[in-house]
Amino acid sequence: MQVQFKILRQTPGSGRESRFQRYTVEARPEERVLDCLNRIKWEQDQTLGFRSSCGHGVCGSDAMKINGRCALACQKLVRDYGGQEITIEPLPSFRVLKDLIVDMKPFFDNIEKVRPFLVNTSTPPEKERLQSKEDSRKVNEVIRCILCACCTASCPVVLGGGEFLGPAPMVWAFRQVFDSRDQDTLNRLKELDAKEGAFGCENHFECTRACPKEIKVTKSINMLKREIEAHLRGS
Ligand code: SF4
Ligand code: FES
Repeated sequence: MQVQFKILRQTPGSGRESRFQRYTVEARPEERVLDCLNRIKWEQDQTLGFRSSCGHGVCGSDAMKINGRCALACQKLVRDYGGQEITIEPLPSFRVLKDLIVDMKPFFDNIEKVRPFLVNTSTPPEKERLQSKEDSRKVNEVIRCILCACCTASCPVVLGGGEFLGPAPMVWAFRQVFDSRDQDTLNRLKELDAKEGAFGCENHFECTRACPKEIKVTKSINMLKREIEAHLRGS
């Protein structure tokens, strides 16, 4: 079948206005949007800029806005769009470097602010710090995060320019707070007790709808809020 694409093209600093460019691609319904982008780049227009790597929903590099929703181009199939024109834009709220390639540095800087690593000063065992099955279940869902930024780019609070670090950093904060091996829970909760942290979330659920790994992002943030209330305010 022939699939019509409308892709936002822009090269900041070039003096050229951003514009939509149309392409027609021959594709099977079960092919991925990423296959079509590759075909455009390889066969029609080598100047089109987009990121991709694994092609299988693992690396998180090909997040973009597809027909109005943030998603991974490698997880969306042509048939998902029912034959209608497919409009592709870069992730909202991110600075565009070229076409669909955005500057991810502020996103990763915000992830770093929640210290996305275990803090444990006890003497390490010979092999590894073990965890019971029950304890590992508490973080099993959030460890699926691939840092694609679909959640953050879909968050109305982030889009509104508020102080909130975004849903993705909260997922990484959750991962440490609820990990039985981490010893810095109280300090983490104090850091998250702010508009920048868990209380920046206004429960719009757009992050949960956007997450390609089906992480219940909003629920995780609400669990962080409850943990803060319980530990810092005794409620
Ligand atoms: Fe992507 Fe989901 Fe992780 Fe957000 S929580 S960065 S949407 S995988
Ligand atoms: Fe790696 Fe899509 S290319 S997640």
